[in-house]
Amino acid sequence: MITLSNPNLTFSNDANPETVVPKGLTSIAFRPGFSVLSVGANTLVPVVAALATSLRMTRQATPEPPVSGEAAEPPSHGVPRFGELLRRHRIDRGATQRQLADLSTVSVRAIRDLELGKAHRPRRDTVQLIAEGLGLTGQERAHFEKAAGGSANELKLSYETGPVPPPAPMDTLVGREAEVWMLGDLLGTGNLRLVSITGLPGIGKSRIALEIAGFLHREHRLPVLWSSAPTQSCATRDTGSEPLSGLVGAALNLPAAAAAVTLQAELRTLVGDQPTLLVMDGYERAGIDATALAALLQHCRGLRVLITARTPFQLPGEREFPLAPLAVPGERAEANLNELAEIGSVKLLTRCIARPGFRLTTANAPAISALCRLLDGIPDSLQLAASWFMVYTAETLLEYVRTDPFAFVTDDLRTSLRTELAALDHDERALLGRLGELDSWSMSDVSRLGHREPAGCARLVRRLLMHGMARTSAGPDSGHFAVLELVKYLGPERRSALHRLEDEAAS
Ligand SMILES: Nc1ncnc2c1ncn2[C@@H]1O[C@H](COP(=O)(O)OP(=O)(O)OP(=O)(O)O)[C@@H](O)[C@H]1O
Ligand SMILES: [Mg+2]
Repeated sequence: MITLSNPNLTFSNDANPETVVPKGLTSIAFRPGFSVLSVGANTLVPVVAALATSLRMTRQATPEPPVSGEAAEPPSHGVPRFGELLRRHRIDRGATQRQLADLSTVSVRAIRDLELGKAHRPRRDTVQLIAEGLGLTGQERAHFEKAAGGSANELKLSYETGPVPPPAPMDTLVGREAEVWMLGDLLGTGNLRLVSITGLPGIGKSRIALEIAGFLHREHRLPVLWSSAPTQSCATRDTGSEPLSGLVGAALNLPAAAAAVTLQAELRTLVGDQPTLLVMDGYERAGIDATALAALLQHCRGLRVLITARTPFQLPGEREFPLAPLAVPGERAEANLNELAEIGSVKLLTRCIARPGFRLTTANAPAISALCRLLDGIPDSLQLAASWFMVYTAETLLEYVRTDPFAFVTDDLRTSLRTELAALDHDERALLGRLGELDSWSMSDVSRLGHREPAGCARLVRRLLMHGMARTSAGPDSGHFAVLELVKYLGPERRSALHRLEDEAAS
């Protein structure tokens, strides 16, 4: 429960002009997933359906004279069922339209128009607010919501009223211009219809998917159906295109309940042949009804699907796109501060440092560069490192990261790297260890060190790249690669050295 201290706050709601919070409200319960109201000039606040309930508790529903233009009791014949039903419930409770408006936070005008049948298709959140205000529960509430139009109508309406936008990014994207342009173009033209962006936790899969979806929505006028797995961070989760994303999630998620089949049919009918982008963000293969997804692609010929996942789904026709970390500075990059500041990882790290007066200088540049290299340009790790600048200087933080980089990355990333490493066979691990001793290496180094034929070398390097354990170094066309610093830290020599140290300490 959040209490707003100013009793005269006036709320306005751009997202839903039908919703008005009356003056005099002092106490609001916040529940996620509700519409966004603006408080005063700037603050954005999610307001809950429980608003009406808390309002009921804090205010007496005193009779008020009808506002000008409010019909005392409008004639009931000729209006749609929902209007009649609404009016009947209101009268049963002895409330005027004004009182119901106060209780539900829906404007008097919207209530009047609904009762008179002037507004035929109320939004779902409006219907829910009115139902709350009327205190409807159980069968009565279900009946009331059904009379409001049913989900199919509502979905169709929100899908058809203009291309549905993706969730709005909360900041600007750093780097990745080439990736956004390439995938945006391939999906926009329909040359590719099923793409999965894969990579380590926190590498930026959801963030780039947001950007690609925004590009396709803007440049190709594609509606975007966005469904996020519950594990995804709030910053990239859908809030805007509900209930469409709810339908997508329910239709394609496992376990495939009988209801899912109906929802899949509903989704197929809804999308039809219209060019549309469907984003499945952060789901794993086991959590998706792959057959339903494939059927959807077959049926809806204009549909393109963008998946973000730790590993590819391996669906027929899927194009895998492993996302590399952000570019990191080379050893002598700090010689030119302007160029250094533009390198992806440096840009993100310095942007996230919320210490007043912090600037990239010749004094801190070497430590900043080294931090970006040690954390491999992984956006999530860089953001985490940035938060430590509240207490440490760049140099002190660098010392800590050198000692144990895994103290500065998420558990997810640590577990993921360990799992990938464990999946390699003995020879592959040994070769990875040898490659890890080099700053960067080429395919000829791989065949020399691994005693393998070219095809075997290519397969291994591809695998390391696909699973995020290695990256291209010095540009994508250089033919040079590098093992991730975090992987080196976990590598066999390092691990056995650490174990030795631990054993020595224990004895
Ligand atoms: N290119 C970028 N520019 C700016 N911020 C970024 C960029 N890439 C990622 N981020 C930020 O880094 C964090 C992690 O990114 P994101 O959530 O997209 O990772 P992910 O790969 O989807 O992780 P997960 O596998 O856990 O879903 C987010 O806060 C995101 O906004
Ligand atoms: Mg994600």
